[in-house]
Amino acid sequence: MGVPAVARKEHAKLAADLREHDYRYYVLADPRITDDAYDALFRRLLQLEDTHPELRAHDSPSQRVGGSVTRDFPTVTHATPMLSLANTYSAADVADFDRRVRELLEGRAPRYHCELKLDGVAFTLHYRDGVLAAGATRGDGQSGDDITANLRTIRALPLRIRETVPGVDEFEARGEAYMRKDAFRALNAQREADGEKLFANPRNSTAGTLKMQDSALVAARQIDAAMYTLIAKNSGIGSQKDAMSALARMGFPVNGHSRVCDSLEEVMAYCEEWEWRRDELPYDIDGVVIKVDSFNDQDILGSISRSPRWAIAYKFSARTATTVLRGVTFQVGRTGAVTPVAELEPVLLAGSTIRRATLHNEDFMRDLDLHKGDTVVVEKGGDVIPKVSSVELARRPADSEGIRFTGTCPACDTRLVRPEGVAAWFCENPACPEQIRSRLEHFASRRAMDIDGLGESVVDALVTNGFVRTPADLYALAEHAGAMAALVRFGERKVSKLLAGIERSKKQRFDRVLFAIGIRFVGEGVAKLLAGRFPSFEHVANATVQEMEAVSGIGPVISASVKRFFEDEQALALVAQLLSRGVAGSPVADGGQVPIPFFDGKTFVLTGTLGKYTRDEAKAVIERCGGTVTGSVSSRTDYVLAGAEAGSKLDKARTLGVEVLTEEDFIAALPSD
Ligand code: IVH
Repeated sequence: MGVPAVARKEHAKLAADLREHDYRYYVLADPRITDDAYDALFRRLLQLEDTHPELRAHDSPSQRVGGSVTRDFPTVTHATPMLSLANTYSAADVADFDRRVRELLEGRAPRYHCELKLDGVAFTLHYRDGVLAAGATRGDGQSGDDITANLRTIRALPLRIRETVPGVDEFEARGEAYMRKDAFRALNAQREADGEKLFANPRNSTAGTLKMQDSALVAARQIDAAMYTLIAKNSGIGSQKDAMSALARMGFPVNGHSRVCDSLEEVMAYCEEWEWRRDELPYDIDGVVIKVDSFNDQDILGSISRSPRWAIAYKFSARTATTVLRGVTFQVGRTGAVTPVAELEPVLLAGSTIRRATLHNEDFMRDLDLHKGDTVVVEKGGDVIPKVSSVELARRPADSEGIRFTGTCPACDTRLVRPEGVAAWFCENPACPEQIRSRLEHFASRRAMDIDGLGESVVDALVTNGFVRTPADLYALAEHAGAMAALVRFGERKVSKLLAGIERSKKQRFDRVLFAIGIRFVGEGVAKLLAGRFPSFEHVANATVQEMEAVSGIGPVISASVKRFFEDEQALALVAQLLSRGVAGSPVADGGQVPIPFFDGKTFVLTGTLGKYTRDEAKAVIERCGGTVTGSVSSRTDYVLAGAEAGSKLDKARTLGVEVLTEEDFIAALPSD
């Protein structure tokens, strides 16, 4: 009794469609149908398989829901050992690795393939005739657990590949299973509600999930995967980059942030970029993997014991440390905002010694309920400045004092005010010496006017001795050279060096001057955007709010703040004085183009519909930041910016391994402060 041809045909069509939808949803993150429509197709497939069990093939989409229960996972020996990587923690270690590689390649400079080091659990999959046959954990590298039933439930992994590599009917694909941060948070929230023990981090929850005995429970968890190794005889594939592209074409998920690097400098730039950007990702990474790209070179380099000589892991430094709180001081910023600062026993954190950490504001400080002598956890997160993230209450010294927020300015004793709806307390005394000092320090800082010889202590001496009150006063200092030189610890050489630095700063670009004068919400990036469109003080001061908002990247908050600044008498007096003393700012180069490293020299392709920009606007922004926009995706494309309903260009980007940016990624990369 066979299955009727119509049923067989319908089943085949449904299976193919569901496979395609899984791929679009889980690998490309670009679904084409609603969840309801998907469910309807899926139900129909199950119905057909119930009626005709012969249709329930091993690679049918129905075979992902799990159900098999394994008491003890059988052990399987890996045909090719699953190596691990030597770890390095510094640029010097990476340079050593590069040197060793070059030596073994007899002086030849290798090409490197740099990848994110996903913080998950390694696994391997075995495919025969395009169909998933078995899957296992890494185990000790020689043999692991057969967790095929559990791995089948990971929807991003193809049960049948989309495209075959000519000449390859059997291969292994290896990669990392991981859990996205949002899935992890949701899982823990559910466990908390159910009174179950919480997982410490996404990696632990992934490891725990893959070892569950009931694969139906695994199927209910959202596990993701990304592949980074292809082992296939006679594939003709000669490099890691091509292997990743082949994996993508076969329908495997591969991470889109890999980069080919032709020098140690490029490798380090990649490591630094991701150490800096890691918090932007929706999943955890704990470093970068640097691989020699050419398989031929990999063979020449070989392996020692359990790790290859052709690859290395650059691990990011740990970002939390524990130390003792000595006390809290209060710092007055250039706007008058008063910030509490934790004074700590010095501790090493992410490569530097930390003595102080921010406590943000009164509310943050109160929530921590800090006491003198507390043991605190300091954390270096996405922000540059470390912060105190928690207190170890169990280690609080007996009868230690609680620490309260200050009521008066630590510099001038003025009563602080906290405006309605704002988290900060302000010192509103315009003559507050600390504010004057902070404004001058900002004005002189490296990224603003970059005045040599005008550091913290010199600013302090100049303000304390009444030589300077506003940034414009700096440009009249030459008249007081004699008096300044008479100051203890100043001396003539120091004075002439300082005056030369001040004189030189008159030639700074206009965007730097605009940033230096300290307009609220005008950081470096916004200053560049403004200066690109309004090339002088006169232009900016006369710009209407509408004209400013016509510049991409400038919204109502910024434009209102700029407007307010140029209506303020003191600010206008400062600008007039700067102008009369020869500080007008030199023109911004390139007819308004302001190169931003992320965009500069890069090639972009736009696809789909963006929410906040028309295509022309996005193009203009990219070009102003130094990038180029082209019409089609090729291996020379650096980024594809994909909006809603992106089509074949997005597919092509995935296939070629070109980095895909969402509109949020794009906006995040834009200069704004
Ligand atoms: S390659 C011989 N690439 O890091 C090279 N590993 O100690 C084998 N990992 O066990 C690994 N992301 O769990 C490689 N892009 C990546 C990776 C990666 C994460 C993990 C993997 C491996 C460990 C290396």
